[in-house]
Amino acid sequence: MIGITTERLVLKKPRRKDKQLIVSQIGDWEVSKWLSKVPYPYTENDANEWIRTLSRKNLTFNIFENDSLIGGIELAPHEDNSHELGFWLGREHWGQGFATEACKGLLQYAAEELNIRNFISSYMIGNDASARVLAKLGFIKSGEGEIYCLSRKETLPCVNLVLAVPVLPNHFQPPNLSVEDADAADPLEAYSWQELRGMIYEKPETG
Ligand SMILES: CC(C)(COP(=O)(O)OP(=O)(O)OC[C@H]1O[C@@H](n2cnc3c(N)ncnc32)[C@H](O)[C@@H]1OP(=O)(O)O)[C@@H](O)C(=O)NCCC(=O)NCCS
Repeated sequence: MIGITTERLVLKKPRRKDKQLIVSQIGDWEVSKWLSKVPYPYTENDANEWIRTLSRKNLTFNIFENDSLIGGIELAPHEDNSHELGFWLGREHWGQGFATEACKGLLQYAAEELNIRNFISSYMIGNDASARVLAKLGFIKSGEGEIYCLSRKETLPCVNLVLAVPVLPNHFQPPNLSVEDADAADPLEAYSWQELRGMIYEKPETG
């Protein structure tokens, strides 16, 4: 079983004894109301079902601080080869930079060890903490959509995002911004996400 280590955290599969912490933390309405696939109320049976699926999910982990479970994180593969980032933390662990740190660790592992390049995510409109975490990681908006939220039993509007800069390869050249672009509040807004990805990932012809 692999474990991914960051400065303060370890990302690894849960043990049997961690089940109660999963139920109490993800069963908190303030957590589950922002997650698409989590039922509410969340029972021990739900946790058992979920744990049973974990052996098939290579990039789904729980987040541990000092060997105590504080949240969950995953990169879920899609048919088009993109991987969707999802994450949550028990409420008492919010506001300490843990989500950002855990996500960075998982994205770096996936990019460097597994050569995964195409990362996407989404958040339900109103989830400002998640929007901020994703912005800090380098995700940019690719569009808007709708998502079914199992805990709320309704379809809600969401923002879809794509990671523009997971790991900068050696050939990366910063965009050649004009004076007008540089004066703009956010120079990167001058580019669409497709253009940004092209700048970063399409290696220029040499020789
Ligand atoms: C989203 C979540 C994982 C964030 O966890 P966290 O460890 O507190 O996140 P971090 O500390 O790494 O970063 C949070 C950032 O959001 C900001 N933030 C927190 N609440 C905010 C709010 N209501 N409005 C705007 N910004 C907010 C923080 O100030 C921080 O930004 P900063 O570093 O610039 O100050 C946590 O709130 C959570 O589990 N929420 C419920 C589940 C969820 O929403 N998951 C994501 C689904 S897409």
